[in-house]
Amino acid sequence: MSGAQRNILVTSALPYANGPIHIGHLVEYLQTDIWVRFQRLRGHAVTYLCASDAHGTPIMLKAREQGIDPEELVETFRAEHRRDFSHFGVDFDNYYTTHSDENRELVESIYASLDAGGYIARRTIRQAYDEQEGMFLPDRFVRGTCPHCGAEDQHGDNCEVCSRTYTPADLINPRSILSDTTPVERDSEHYFFRLGEFEDSLRQWTRSGVLDEGVAKKLDEWFEAGLQDWDISRDAPYFGFRIPGTKDKYFYVWLDAPVGYMASLANLAARNGSPGVDHYFGRDSTSELYHFIGKDIAYFHTLFWPAVLEGAGYRKPSGVFVHGFLTVNGQKMSKSRGTFVSAATYAEHLNPEYLRYYYACKLGPGLDDIDLNLEDFVNRTNADLVGKFVNIASRCAGFITRSFDGRLAAALDDQPLYEEFVGAGKQIAACYESREYGKAVREIMALADRANQYIDEHKPWVLAKDPDSLPRVQGICTQGLNLFRVLLTYLKPVLPELAGEAERFLAAGKLHWVSPTEPLLDRPIEKFKPLVTRVDDQVVAAMIEASKREQAG
Ligand code: 2FM
Ligand code: ZN
Repeated sequence: MSGAQRNILVTSALPYANGPIHIGHLVEYLQTDIWVRFQRLRGHAVTYLCASDAHGTPIMLKAREQGIDPEELVETFRAEHRRDFSHFGVDFDNYYTTHSDENRELVESIYASLDAGGYIARRTIRQAYDEQEGMFLPDRFVRGTCPHCGAEDQHGDNCEVCSRTYTPADLINPRSILSDTTPVERDSEHYFFRLGEFEDSLRQWTRSGVLDEGVAKKLDEWFEAGLQDWDISRDAPYFGFRIPGTKDKYFYVWLDAPVGYMASLANLAARNGSPGVDHYFGRDSTSELYHFIGKDIAYFHTLFWPAVLEGAGYRKPSGVFVHGFLTVNGQKMSKSRGTFVSAATYAEHLNPEYLRYYYACKLGPGLDDIDLNLEDFVNRTNADLVGKFVNIASRCAGFITRSFDGRLAAALDDQPLYEEFVGAGKQIAACYESREYGKAVREIMALADRANQYIDEHKPWVLAKDPDSLPRVQGICTQGLNLFRVLLTYLKPVLPELAGEAERFLAAGKLHWVSPTEPLLDRPIEKFKPLVTRVDDQVVAAMIEASKREQAG
């Protein structure tokens, strides 16, 4: 292990259980999974949690449309999402649901604490109401003519033409998208979380090194704009948890969603006896707590959530890691261009590890969007994984198997070069730790170039023709395979499946971050089987075509 063992709880955002996981979502789950695997490889205790985000109006309406209970819809998508994530090697300790008893109990208790602390305000607001459907309409469910520029068929909260914001009541000729009737205005009492009460402590928390600079800047803007009370209630009909003491009011999905992180933990702890909510979320917890999220939900995770935790007597996160969005070939993912690729369609066509590798190449710690350029994806996979990395092993393994009965030499041919590779681990670890995966991969590939150069210089295939030089050949190939093993260790967080196969080939057990300290010498290896195959751009084209067909339905 590297230093003292850390106790770390990690989450990725909880996907809504009403649509497929796509390659845009995967940026986050792969980013998180690589970090989690890296920490585990270093010997730290990591619990990685996720769940289905089950509640809210869209899920309620989709279930209604399909004539099923929302519970059933959620379970169907939950199973599908779990399958997709497992294809991509995302190694959750628990994948639960926010529609659970654990979550209900936690949300109720958090709400009771907030109310007792004086952090809940109640006041009546006026909202668009669909009389035919018998329900209040979220802003997105009202459309009409923009009051500022006159553009028709605009959303209830902002205009896509002139970008101005307003409320549904301001729209000219507003329509409910559910019934196409004209909504009326109706009063209802709502419950608000008094976010402003937490401004001082949020400002302090923001500046305590828990956020990247880009995110901290965003928060400064939000502080400038002023922290408004947050409406945490919704009227029936709603799919969610009813607010205790009310007949027809429900907690807004965004209140119970992050509590779902805790509920997933509570469920895991109850099942396997591992440390539970108090251990990780207790005010005096000494463990670390990190949330990986996309930039669109930063407000919820860097303001509402820490404030709710504090108000309810829990600790705040040690870090909130925010990533940007995915573009494909430099543009937004598009259904008609076929670049809106679902995880399942990708996995039917291509090896999931190649996407893990490509995203790792592109990922940094910041908010920047990352681009999946499909041509570059093919070239990089073939050049780096096939041409550089695995090539080291395939160039050396055959000699060992054929000429030395599968046995490695008793000594390395170039000890200093080996030590240089081992020494690079420190810098590479620092890159993973700070989520500079692109930098980590660049360093690793520079070492792969060095290893290939070493083999080119020593030409074992020439030496092998001269019986007197055979001992050298064994030493050189042993060197090459040991360099490969060091790089394999460094890439293991990114390529867990490939690493597993290569571990079997090296026949020396599972690699840990510190394994390369001792080279493999004077011991047998297994016969080498190709670990990767070249990507054909025809296959990528077929995947895009398949995505187009799916969208066309
Ligand atoms: O934006 C979303 O997709 C939400 N379902 C994320 C929830 S994350 C957490 F708060 F639960
Ligand atoms: Zn407008």
